Amino acid sequence: MYTINFYNKNSIINFLLLKMSYINNVKVNHLKTALGIDITGNSFSFLTNEKGPFKATLSSNNKEVQTREVTLEESNAFSFKDPLEYNTNYTLLVESSTSKSELNFETAIKLTSPFIKPKNKNIFSPIFFKNIKIDKQIKKARLYITGLGIYQAFINNTKVGNAYLTPGFNDYDYYLRYQTYDIINLLKLNEENKIEIHMGDGWYKGRIGINKPLDKGGNVFGDEYKLCLNIVITYNDEKEKNLEIKSDESWKVKPSKEVSNNIYDGEEIDYTLPEGTPEDVIISEEKYNLIPDYGALIVEKNLLKPELYVSPKGEQILDFKQNMVGFVRYKGILNKNQELKITHGEVLQKECFYNANYRTAKAILKYKGDGEKRIYEPIFTYYGFRYTLIEGLEKVDPNDFEGVVIYTDLEKKISFETENKYINQLSKNCFWGQCGNFLDVPTDCPQRDERLGWTADTQVFVNTACYNMDTYIFYKKFLNDLRGDQTMYYNGDIPMYSPSLKKEAGEGGAVWADAGTIIPWNVYLNYGDKNLLENNYALMRDFAETLIRKDIEQGNKNLILKGFTFGDWLAQDGVCAQSLFGGTDNGFIRTVYYYRSIELTSFAAKELGKKEDFEKYDTLKKKIYNAILDEYFAPNGKLALDTQTAYVLSLFYKIYRNKERVLSDFKERIKKDFYRCKTGFTGTPLILLCLFDNDMDEYAYRILFNEECPGWIYAIKLGATTIWERWNSLLADGTISGINMNSFNHYSYGSVCEAIFSRICGLRNLSPGWKKVLIKPQINYRLKNVKFSYESIRGKFEICWKCQDGKFYLDVMIPIGVEAEIILPDKKNFNVNGGKYNYECEVDSTIFTPFSIDTPLVDIVNNKQALQVVKDTLPQVYEMATGENDEFKLENIRHLSGLMMFVESKEKVQKCDEELKKIKL
Ligand code: BGC
Repeated sequence: MYTINFYNKNSIINFLLLKMSYINNVKVNHLKTALGIDITGNSFSFLTNEKGPFKATLSSNNKEVQTREVTLEESNAFSFKDPLEYNTNYTLLVESSTSKSELNFETAIKLTSPFIKPKNKNIFSPIFFKNIKIDKQIKKARLYITGLGIYQAFINNTKVGNAYLTPGFNDYDYYLRYQTYDIINLLKLNEENKIEIHMGDGWYKGRIGINKPLDKGGNVFGDEYKLCLNIVITYNDEKEKNLEIKSDESWKVKPSKEVSNNIYDGEEIDYTLPEGTPEDVIISEEKYNLIPDYGALIVEKNLLKPELYVSPKGEQILDFKQNMVGFVRYKGILNKNQELKITHGEVLQKECFYNANYRTAKAILKYKGDGEKRIYEPIFTYYGFRYTLIEGLEKVDPNDFEGVVIYTDLEKKISFETENKYINQLSKNCFWGQCGNFLDVPTDCPQRDERLGWTADTQVFVNTACYNMDTYIFYKKFLNDLRGDQTMYYNGDIPMYSPSLKKEAGEGGAVWADAGTIIPWNVYLNYGDKNLLENNYALMRDFAETLIRKDIEQGNKNLILKGFTFGDWLAQDGVCAQSLFGGTDNGFIRTVYYYRSIELTSFAAKELGKKEDFEKYDTLKKKIYNAILDEYFAPNGKLALDTQTAYVLSLFYKIYRNKERVLSDFKERIKKDFYRCKTGFTGTPLILLCLFDNDMDEYAYRILFNEECPGWIYAIKLGATTIWERWNSLLADGTISGINMNSFNHYSYGSVCEAIFSRICGLRNLSPGWKKVLIKPQINYRLKNVKFSYESIRGKFEICWKCQDGKFYLDVMIPIGVEAEIILPDKKNFNVNGGKYNYECEVDSTIFTPFSIDTPLVDIVNNKQALQVVKDTLPQVYEMATGENDEFKLENIRHLSGLMMFVESKEKVQKCDEELKKIKL
């Protein structure tokens, strides 16, 4: 029985919603404020509850420049035919007959100033400077700037803008971004204005890359600091020509107080150093492909207050209570020559400071004071940490410190809460993991000597990332990085990390390199921007062609059995607990991803109307499918590989002869694996999705709610505030399991949140840009209450469900213009359009009374009441459930009662069943 009351209550709400029509959130490239954007490749969007069509008018100086009609379907991504003009203020007005909304934005100039560099190559971390005088009232002042390595501009001793680590991380030989800043409030009239640009080593010149010794490495992209800028001042008096101050030979350069700085080792500043002597700059002849920044910079997003902890060794340690990324700001005093040293770490060991897992990354911040009052913060580095060891202060006052959390400025899009504190914490950890690893590049980890754009890590996380934040612009940039590597160094292939540090990275191999098809396709599904897909089609196609070449080289059998892949990296079914490579056959993984990349390229070709390409890739996909069946499946359907990841890949990508056979073998495998996941980088992101989609909800929930290793809650119970790299990063007693590769802020396993949001909360995207969705909460006795919202490119979805008093209740809100299919736990389904709805239905009794003699003991032992019933009614089973042979836990009482050794009577079994069924959760 179910009732729907949207005929009465909801129809009133719908009526009201429709009445209050609106257009809002007009954005360019998903940004509400845009300064210095490019003249082409822009994507516009807005939110509305009207049906349209809408008129979009672009004007500049109150003159209409372009206008077009936009349908409701296009509201998530539309563009104008003609390119914009440089250095122009635009207004975009979106209107219907009843509402309107507008956005103001400004394009960049074309930056053509020369690059300057210190004549003396030996100056470390220099300051370029020049004074300028302004003698007329100004209307507008902009700084257009880029530099190599990291630059930070100051005007009259005040930092320009709120960004960190500019111009960001990419292959500077492929493109170099320049940023635009509004500097009007920093300039003084009729006075000398001190313009200073500090430069640090950054990714360009500092030590970066794997296995780089402390004294070597560095200079990957160059060994000379370079600066290019243009300050453009527009006077109030329109007859006056703009004043332009460009980087040229009139600038001077001087040494700074920086002693050392780079991304891995941190920063050291000595304020006692004397003011440097000015020296000359020269023009640098190298040319760069300068482009305006994409628009989302790394900024301060959060501040954390630490607590002081004194270790048994007497160390003064600040605990920021959260594994965070950014730096520590010190607001206290440093006397002349007093040294403050801050060392960063993620976990304590034996209650003392520890950071051996940072490997060669020193992650130190050091200041030598000069007695002046100032705020101390680094400008050319960042750290991943929860704890900092403070040395050099007699008594540490935690109030003098704050943790500055920085990441690429992307909007949060999700809210999620359940009644289960571990699951709530898991989604928080996943979000923090994304914050800490979305610093211009999606990095693997933020603390050790790596911090690189590992392609699998972000490929598996892409959908979770898009739930958590609006990642459009971030991935647009990263996809350009992939394309750069692909065309400049890899002849169509994709590296294992990007930027590849000028080909230092090897070819990615399966799962890693497939980022080249998986990311563009999923970004398209999440944001529905066809122009972006079109722009990334060459990336997908060229990668698909490299796979085809590999297949041909290996005998043209529609298989790729040889070649490098990290495979099911870090899976728990490798040869030992610390194994890097999992137990799943790499030939299978390679070929399944060959299949998947060809399939996604065929999807993209179809979507973009590239008929010939579609037919080519679609035909090939079918051939690969058959080749996989011949190579890996027995004639009757048994999958020849018996690992969780192998079953997951078969089921998730729908490659099988006989699905039922694969499913039953998969169940058996999971049971043998003690109902826990054994998967690594390849299988983990997909395992729960795969279980939920194959009516194995009970298995999915059991794996998710498992509190032992391997499992997500295991880490949370040991205090994790981000996602760990390894299932067993810490052993149960809190000891670190190894230091060679062990990060406590590695977001890839956070990809489990895709399954939580899409299958448990139940919101699934069925078409590009969330035009069609499926709302299908998959419920289980372990979770009774979920509140979830997601602000998609088409508007906000809300899903609240609960299981109470024998029933399931669902409240949903769907943006106008979205078609939704709603499937309730009792399988009844409804097709609705945007609006608010609520439903209720009866649910299976196991949601409230889950225990019986059919429940595996592994679940019974986790519930005190159930275990007590077993103890009281069937002592022999109790012995089995709590004794030394864990194998018994895999079975249920019904099965055990059939064993020869079983001594309890039928009546007692019956009684136990009755008592177990009385336990209400
Ligand atoms: C990184 C990973 C990456 C892996 C390659 C590690 O060092 O931290 O996350 O994907 O190497 O297998």
